[in-house]
Amino acid sequence: PFTVELRRSGATVEVAAGESALTAVRRVLPATPYSCEQGFCGTCQHRVLEGEVEHRDELLTDAERADSMLLCVSRAAGGRLALDL
Ligand code: FES
Repeated sequence: PFTVELRRSGATVEVAAGESALTAVRRVLPATPYSCEQGFCGTCQHRVLEGEVEHRDELLTDAERADSMLLCVSRAAGGRLALDL
């Protein structure tokens, strides 16, 4: 489990062990776009403002990984992430 701070929205969501960050974010921001939910389409890519990401996709380049993540598959490496959402 980890915490995601939605900095622009001023909200914080808890991501449970068995759910994706995308699912948790959509509880607060239901319009957040997604498609494949398997880490290959890139629709759910968002900018990470703070925190270490455990990238579980095969799509993003190293440059993209430096400041963004795919919400459907990737998770926090620490306990907390802050997103530009
Ligand atoms: Fe396709 Fe996340 S929804 S990569």
